[in-house]
Parts: sequence; structure tokens; C-alpha cells
Amino acid sequence: MARSAAIGRHVDLLGYRVHVAPWLLDELGRIVREAAPAHTIAVITDDDVAQYHAAHVVGSLRHFGGAHRIIYRAVPPGERQKTREQWAALTDWLIDEHCGRDTTIVALGGGVVGDLAGFVAATFMRGVPFVQVPTTLLAMVDASVGGKVAVDTPVGKNLVGAFHQPAAVVIDPTVLQTLPVEHVRAGLAEVIKHGVIRDAGHLERARDVGPRLVAARLEPSQAAFDWHGDELSALITESVEIKAAVVREDERERGLRGILNFGHTIGHAVEIVSGFALRHGEAIAIGMVLEGALAERIGIADAGLRQEIIDALEGAGLPVTLPGAMSAESILTAMRTDKKSREGRAYFALPSAVGVMAGAETGFGVTVDDADVRAVLQPPG
Ligand SMILES: NC(=O)c1ccc[n+]([C@@H]2O[C@H](COP(=O)([O-])OP(=O)(O)OC[C@H]3O[C@@H](n4cnc5c(N)ncnc54)[C@H](O)[C@@H]3O)[C@@H](O)[C@H]2O)c1
Ligand SMILES: [Zn+2]
Repeated sequence: MARSAAIGRHVDLLGYRVHVAPWLLDELGRIVREAAPAHTIAVITDDDVAQYHAAHVVGSLRHFGGAHRIIYRAVPPGERQKTREQWAALTDWLIDEHCGRDTTIVALGGGVVGDLAGFVAATFMRGVPFVQVPTTLLAMVDASVGGKVAVDTPVGKNLVGAFHQPAAVVIDPTVLQTLPVEHVRAGLAEVIKHGVIRDAGHLERARDVGPRLVAARLEPSQAAFDWHGDELSALITESVEIKAAVVREDERERGLRGILNFGHTIGHAVEIVSGFALRHGEAIAIGMVLEGALAERIGIADAGLRQEIIDALEGAGLPVTLPGAMSAESILTAMRTDKKSREGRAYFALPSAVGVMAGAETGFGVTVDDADVRAVLQPPG
């Protein structure tokens, strides 16, 4: 532990460490050797990430990883690869390569690669260690933390999966320099969510750093952002710590972990009704505004909460209103099929103020009548 513990910032949860520091990819080999020493290290990534970051990662693993061999495979980018077919193809590849239990899988990429490679690791030989190297902001602060791994089926997302905690998570914020700006925004939506559900100070810092981060990806030549400085590492670490604190208390999602769904009950329905034209981060941005409005409407939160959420999201360039063509009924219908709601009433994780969630006595689920949901979904006028 000694060496990597000394580098940068970290969060500990469920027996493993999340390391955060600029240029940490240089140290990846050492961290893997300590946390999950193996005969074979199998790197799984996607073609887009590979083009920028694979050589660096494989180099570090080769020099410091302590394995007899490194094998490497890139899948095409995108959610469509998160399937049982791709899980089978990757598993067959490990078998063809004569990998045994002494294999460590390194998942290098966004949430798609993390969920897919993590599910391969969870099931191969009844489970081998894996190390998450998240390369999107969303994967850094959300998908790589908490041990949920899964693939999609044609019927729905994440329907086949497992809880499989990584041996370590290695976050190098400098890799975000190549991340397309829309994915930077999507990640900021989850960072803002963490502030709203647990920590007003975190929301403040997200409002400070977020817009500058977006500007730096929009106009890299004009907006100077210190990618190597500590500011971004600090924001990411704080966001990871918020999710980790929730996961530590409720690993298997029996109660508290539900607060991470803030913005997602309506947001996920909006994502579906848009036919996935809205990205997840955009849809949950809208969902957070509407659920904030709902909390105000039913008297759980004071007036002003919704506006604070809007200010933070707009600063990051995220949408805050429903697309004009989307009807309240279509969203309510999608919410029902999403199983988070039953006829006539729905369950929500709602804040009573920035940083404070309502309903601690009842497992943080607040029951809301459809009439109230309909009212906040109805465009004014
Ligand atoms: N397991 C969990 O708890 C959890 C939580 C939230 C989301 N998820 C899952 O995460 C997935 C979404 O993850 P995502 O938003 O990271 O999407 P993603 O993995 O598809 O990455 C987005 C795009 O960015 C590219 N990319 C990634 N890093 C890059 C970099 N540094 N530079 C340039 N391009 C880069 C990828 O190739 C991809 O095209 C969904 O499948 C979702 O279900 C899981
Ligand atoms: Zn989300």
C-alpha cells in the first residue's frame, strides 16, 4: 500500500481504494501490482479511448505491472456493445488466451467499458479481480464507484448483472482533455446531483469548476484550465466520496442508496420518451429540475431549491426544461413501465434543501400522487 497511498488523493470503500491524481496513469502498473497481482493482465477498452490512452496504459502495465503478459482488446465504442453477445465474445477471448484465475482485468474507458468488462470479471472463472480506469467524468464519479456491473438486453438496460467490487479504481483527470464536451456536461450532471443530495459545498464547487471545464473543452485554445492542477482532482474526489459514503452504508440498495436516484425517476422516463435523443446526463438534468419543483410543490422543500438546481445546471450548459413536444402523459406512462411507479402514485427520492434528502424515516422514498407529478410536467401557460 505504501507507495500508491502516497500519490494524490483517495477514497476508501468496501476494501479497496479509489486513487485520484493528475498523471496517475503513469502509476497504473504499480497500483495493479499491489491491488491485484496477476499472471496475466487483460486490458479491455473501446476504440475511441484506445486511440488516446491505450499506449500509455499498456506501457505502465508492462513496466510496473509485474505480470508475465499483457493482453489487450478494444470493442467498438457505445452503449450498443454492452450486450450478452459482447460479454460472450470477451469471455471466449480470455478462454482462447488460456487465461486462468490468475488474471486481472483492467477496464479502461467510460461506463460502458466499466460495466461490460466488470461483468466479464464478475463471471469469468466465477470472478476474477478487476481494476477500473474510468476515462469519462460520469464513469469517474458514478459508474466506477459502487460495484454494480451489467449488460443490457433488447428489453432494457442493465437487466443482467452482478455486484462485483473492483480491486482498485484509478482516476487520472488529465484524460478528460480528450473527452467530447457533451460527455463532460453529462458527467457534471451527476456531480451536481451529488451536491444536491448530500453537500451544499460540493454544489458550490461544481458551480465554480464545471463551467470552466466545459469552456476548456469547447474552446481549448482560449479557455485556459489547469488540467494538471489539483482543483479538478479535488472536485472528483469529493464527488466520489459522496457516492462512496452512500454505498458504504447501503451496498445492495436497500434504502439509502435510493437517494442516488434523485432526478432519475422523471429523468429516465424523459430519456426514454425522447427515444434516447437526449443523453442520460441531459435527461436527468431536466429530471432534477422537475423533481426539485415537485419537492417544492408538495411542501417538502422551501421555494428556491428548484432555482438553485437550475442555476448550477445552466452554468454547465445543461438543459433545464422539457422539450416542447413531450407530453406529461407520455412521461407518466414511461415512469410506470420503468417500475419506479404504480398506478396513481409514484416513489421519489426528493431533497428538502440542497444537501439534505427528505424521508429518512421511510427509507428516503417519498410517495407522490400522479396529479402532483402531472402538474410539474405541464408546461406553464
Ligand atoms: N455501474 C454503475 O453504477 C453505473 C452508473 C452510472 C452509469 N452507468 C453506465 O455507464 C454507461 C455510460 O457511461 P459513459 O457516459 O461513460 O459512456 P461511454 O462509456 O459510452 O463513453 C462515452 C463516449 O466517450 C468516449 N470516451 C470515453 N473516455 C474518453 C476520453 N477520455 N477521451 C475521448 N473519448 C472518450 C467513449 O469511447 C464513448 O464513445 C451506461 O451504460 C450506464 O448504464 C453505470
Ligand atoms: Zn445517472
